[in-house]
Amino acid sequence: METNGTPQSPAGDWRSYERMLLPPIQDLHKLGVYEEHGGYDRLRRVLEDDAFEPSDVTDEVKASGLTGRGGAGFPTGIKWTFMPEPDERPRFIGVNADESEPGTFKDRQVMEYNPHLMLEGILLAGYALHIDTAYVYIRGEYTDWIVHLKEQLENAYEAGYVGENIMGSDFTMDIVLHKGAGAYICGEETSLMESLEGKRGYPRYKPPFPAQSGIFGSPTTINNAETLAHVPLIVEQGGEAYSNIGAGDMPGPALYGMSGHVKNPGVYEFPTGMLLTDMIYDVCGGMARDKDLKAVVPGGSSVPPVPADQIDGISMNDESLGEVGSRTGTFCPLVLDEETDMVSFLRRVAHFYQDETCGQCTPCREGTSWLEKILARIDEGEGRMRDIDLLLELCDNMDGGRTICAFADGAVGPVRATVKRFREEFAAKCQASVHPVSTEVSAGAG
Ligand code: NAI
Ligand code: SF4
Repeated sequence: METNGTPQSPAGDWRSYERMLLPPIQDLHKLGVYEEHGGYDRLRRVLEDDAFEPSDVTDEVKASGLTGRGGAGFPTGIKWTFMPEPDERPRFIGVNADESEPGTFKDRQVMEYNPHLMLEGILLAGYALHIDTAYVYIRGEYTDWIVHLKEQLENAYEAGYVGENIMGSDFTMDIVLHKGAGAYICGEETSLMESLEGKRGYPRYKPPFPAQSGIFGSPTTINNAETLAHVPLIVEQGGEAYSNIGAGDMPGPALYGMSGHVKNPGVYEFPTGMLLTDMIYDVCGGMARDKDLKAVVPGGSSVPPVPADQIDGISMNDESLGEVGSRTGTFCPLVLDEETDMVSFLRRVAHFYQDETCGQCTPCREGTSWLEKILARIDEGEGRMRDIDLLLELCDNMDGGRTICAFADGAVGPVRATVKRFREEFAAKCQASVHPVSTEVSAGAG
């Protein structure tokens, strides 16, 4: 979108935007303060209004266009409609608070500053989907947040917002906190369910999707922690009004976790569709040490980087980022300056995936290991020119449905994109390599 040569942000007049997920209210995490500001009123309205059927909540969420904020961006209302009609089986919500994607740190802000908004969202989802048990699977390393969330959950139980006959209605729901043990793969939804069931966190094949066979084989909806915090906002203003906030393809407010080489990193709330240039140069105060920008990784390490010469007019929504071969992912842009060594950067990312693969699938287990090995030798000045294409060939043998879960695709995405977009940096390191150009083993070599 451009007017008179100036790119317009799909986020609209973001300078006058008033925060909804993390409003500037002192001590909002405390139940009393949350109640003073309308907390749990959305749930009360839904429970007390006989005309408000569970399916109406789902309809509003569908109309809102809310997309999952965990990284995949799947439409939440559509996901909810996958739940079968209630039968004799138990039904569950899995709340994915296992935030572990490198550079992603925004769910924890919700749990710290507005935990009851997330809890109210879980309850509204439970009501909508006829679910009486939610498991919040929280990242094990989030020790302070676990204590904090537990305390607020207990307060909500005591006040009658969670548990039996909530607010005197016939709606009953329990929310159980479950602490992860530090494995990134347990944030993958099927692995999360295995882990919850007390098993090793190995991803399962999909289909069946969780709605068909989820936790303990029962119908389950898995939603990201922040995603559920949007639900009270949708119920309050109506799905249609919510759908007019931000970018049309993935509307609503968003938490932008800004990190890397900017002057003021942090978590900022704005509508979706913020221009990357606005986020970097206005919101975050520009590049740290006034260096030039080299690239932005828009949302988590699994997402392809956007080189600086392509970011003009590109905004934080999938339609716009798709134009430059990337996507929003977790809405947490990692900003890299001109001095960033892209080979070292990629090597570090590859190390993460090599370390975190669950090892079930050969292409992923072996592939992540080889990606790291090859990147390490290029980085250390021992690479051969043909290593660059070898990296790309390896990628072609790892993704595109060759593995059980999307982890391998996540590992491959940044490698393929970074090598293609910054090939000259890889070539320069290989050219300067001390490694002999010949691949033949010289006589007498061990
Ligand atoms: P996915 O695209 O396979 O699925 C997204 C959601 O839509 C899932 O809940 C899935 O069950 C549902 N879904 C997709 N197709 C469906 C169908 N045909 N029928 C029914 N349901 C369907 O992506 P996945 O593997 O869940 O997530 C991958 C993303 O997660 C990556 O983009 C990665 O960046 C992100 N991620 C985020 C992390 C974080 O810390 N926030 C950690 C790890 C990964
Ligand atoms: Fe495990 Fe990787 Fe296979 Fe996913 S793709 S199941 S992480 S080996």
